[in-house]
Amino acid sequence: MMNPMNVPISRTPAWQTLTDLAKRPLDIRTLIEETGRVEQLTLGTSLISADLSKQRLDTRVLDALLDLAQEADVSGRALKMAEGTAINETEHRAVLHTALRQPSDRLPAGLRDHLTSERNAMLRIATAIRDGSWQGSTGRAITDVVNIGIGGSDLGPKMACAALREFCDGPRCHFISNVDGAEINTLLTGLDAATTVMIISSKTFTTVETLTNARTMLDWFEQNLVIAKPQGSPHCIGVTNDVEKAKAFGIPESQLLTFIDAIGGRYSVWSSIGLPVAIATGAGGFEAMLAGGAEMDAHFQTAEPAANLPLLMGLIGVWYNNFLGMRSHAVIPYCQRLSLFVDHLQQLDMESNGKSATLSGDFVEWDTGPVVWGQTGTNGQHAFFQLLHQGTQVVPVDFIGLASDPLSSPRHHRILMANMIAQSEALMLGRSSEDPHRHYPGNRPSTTILLDALTPASLGQLLALYEHKVFVQGCVWQVNSFDQWGVELGKQLATSLLEDGQAGHDPSTTALMKKTGLHG
Ligand code: F6P
Repeated sequence: MMNPMNVPISRTPAWQTLTDLAKRPLDIRTLIEETGRVEQLTLGTSLISADLSKQRLDTRVLDALLDLAQEADVSGRALKMAEGTAINETEHRAVLHTALRQPSDRLPAGLRDHLTSERNAMLRIATAIRDGSWQGSTGRAITDVVNIGIGGSDLGPKMACAALREFCDGPRCHFISNVDGAEINTLLTGLDAATTVMIISSKTFTTVETLTNARTMLDWFEQNLVIAKPQGSPHCIGVTNDVEKAKAFGIPESQLLTFIDAIGGRYSVWSSIGLPVAIATGAGGFEAMLAGGAEMDAHFQTAEPAANLPLLMGLIGVWYNNFLGMRSHAVIPYCQRLSLFVDHLQQLDMESNGKSATLSGDFVEWDTGPVVWGQTGTNGQHAFFQLLHQGTQVVPVDFIGLASDPLSSPRHHRILMANMIAQSEALMLGRSSEDPHRHYPGNRPSTTILLDALTPASLGQLLALYEHKVFVQGCVWQVNSFDQWGVELGKQLATSLLEDGQAGHDPSTTALMKKTGLHG
């Protein structure tokens, strides 16, 4: 059944079966009444349980999807990832974020030791900042940390610090990503330079937004502390894969943390890029997050296909995307502390699978990554849920809730959970009316993911769950989920707009340049 010849996925028998199965009407309202369905389709790990029973699929679809996973060689590629094979083929790199959580025995011992030493170096600095032994240039302990980075060098740690607020007992962590100067200027007016550390987080150490914000912050240190070259002072830490560039920027090696190039930006929160998480929650918090991720890895690697949560979530997404014409996917956490989870997921999912080229270098003949979007409930209910319930396009939803929340109160938590559960029920059941304005079609699918509570370990499991879901889909769509060539053209054109003058640009671009004062 496996697809060793890399036959286009759309020409496999499983794809054909699914195409045929999609022609039948399927109604979740009927399916949900089947004996044992909820038990069979509620899957999970120690801290997460996901109810997939409100999905528009029956046993035949499920079986065909599992066949498709075999055709796509999902388990073979997962093994290659764990073994350190260069599955990021266009960049000739291995993909080792799972090794940051729990290095596989299949990796060379030297590499495992290297990963451990990078992690320990990061935890040592985090601990020194927390216990006051890492001091500013005037000998005062650090109260505030500003992480300057963008994309994967910002979203993961920022999301984790917000999600783990209950466990943050270290210095305050702030995040600056946008090159919009209003953000950094406003933040700096409220900080004391003597007790502030800046982390310059950049895998490549070339990202314009990050280097611009870093230079602004260096000017601020210089003016406020009256020191020359603050990048050489304890007020600056660099986290990068390109040590030479960071040293050329003036950061001494003792203030540099590294991570290997096999860690993609959007998968890097588990690496030294997670420094703010370790500063905020402590080494124990960070390690618990890694352990949570590792438990999800073990589940993905060992659970039976029909009980494998990331596998099924990925395949169900393929079912909707490629066979039922549902081209976007909403993620709605019913926990305000998870509001940035959607932002993180957008990069994780869309930068990984928003591709049009196959691994063998052809254009795909099928749809790849959907638009992923969302925001927290209940806020979203009062904004875009109208479309989810009555719009002309069906959007599958992931609801994410907490079984218990010590930061909330029973009264609030009950109302929050009642809303979440009611939305999934309403989407599925709908309500008929002869008045089209009051008619809810129903049969709209959702998954409900419940975390026991929001802890470093459960967050680690949740993050790894979605990473593997994205991996599964990338395997089926036969794309490289670990490169991101699509972001390059815009970066190059921005540089050319700044440097080359007006010549050679189209009339609209030239007019906009004039109006914004770029040129002319
Ligand atoms: O623009 C895309 C991207 O390359 C992301 O993949 C990455 O997370 C982000 O930019 C930041 O890159 P860096 O960490 O090299 O500054």
